[in-house]
Formats: sequence, C-alpha cells, structure tokens
Amino acid sequence: MKYVMQLGQKDQPIFILLHGTGGNEESLLDVGKAINNRATLIGIRGNVLEDSYPRYFKRLEEGLYDEADLAERAVELHHFIQKIVMDVPGDNKDIVLIGYSNGANIGIRLLLDYPDNYRQAILFHPMYPVVVPEKNDLRKTKIFASMGTQDPIVSVINSQYVLSLFNERHAAVTEEWTISHQLTYDEVTAAKNWLDHL
Ligand code: MLT
Repeated sequence: MKYVMQLGQKDQPIFILLHGTGGNEESLLDVGKAINNRATLIGIRGNVLEDSYPRYFKRLEEGLYDEADLAERAVELHHFIQKIVMDVPGDNKDIVLIGYSNGANIGIRLLLDYPDNYRQAILFHPMYPVVVPEKNDLRKTKIFASMGTQDPIVSVINSQYVLSLFNERHAAVTEEWTISHQLTYDEVTAAKNWLDHL
C-alpha cells in the first residue's frame, strides 16, 4: 500500500490518516497537523480504484458495500498498519485512527474487529450500512464522530446506525453534528479539543 509518514515527537500518538473516496495518502496531513502538530502522521492510500478514485474497499453502488471485499481489505489494512507502526521510533505506539468518509468507514471495521489494537478514533462523516452480528466489547474504545444533519451521502438514520453500533458495544462516543458531508474547520477543531481532553 502507498503511504507517507511524517515523524512527530516520540511521546506523542501515531495518527493513521484514512482519506475519503478520491483522496490519497496526503489528503489528511493538514487535518492531522491541525489536531496535534507533534503527533506522528501516517497517511495511507486506499488500494481500490473506483474509476480513477482511490478507496479502501469496493462498493456495488453508493451506500451498498461489497462486503467480501470490505472484509478482505480490512484485514490487509490492519496488517499493514501494524507493520508500519513498528517502524516508528519511540515507546508510544498509541494509535488514533482519523478517517473521513470512506476512510472513516474502513476505520469502523478496524475498530469493530480489532478492539485491542484500535482504541481511539476520529470519524468524520462515517457510514456503515452493514449488519454486524459480532458483539465485541468496545468498553475501552473512545470515538469522536461528526455527522451532517443534511448530508446528501449519509442520512441521519445511517449516522445514527453508526452511533448505535458503538453504543451497543459500550464504546464512549462523542457526537458532533454539522450540516453537510464536507469536512469543516469547526469539526476539526472539535476533534482536536476532544483528543486534547482525553
Ligand atoms: C462509502 O462508499 O464508503 C461511502 O459512500 C462514502 C463515500 O462516498 O466514500
């Protein structure tokens, strides 16, 4: 997988930056810096191309995921993250997943499937239209999620479904509501405040 790494201070967390459809490994570097300019930033490009737009997993149409591909890509991304994190110098290997849109959605899969590895996440405009029978305990997981009240891609019902997936598994979820699907300065600031006060 293609990635970019900008080393931060050794006592600071590692941000895994996961872009939206059509983005790349650099798309969220500025967002990561705005959240904590001393963190190590690792931006990873999604391995799937939809037309020429990078994503993290295939979809059959808007809002309908190829679940077999999602399952496979999540394992692949998890192994990749675990491997590159080993190259980061220092003892602090605390990972914060930071994803926007499609990047937040693969982030959800990592949080649900690997609760021992991923305990903090910032999910900007997530959506996860997938039935999840597993009931892993996410009691140690802390999530900031921002959602739009008039998001043309993610309905309020779909946003609430994401929140319910985490609430039912006992994660601590902080919600921020914006208007649309765009990533705004205000929600990045709200995410920074949330992480600063964890
Ligand atoms: C997805 O496919 O993950 C969502 O529809 C968000 C997006 O458009 O990337």
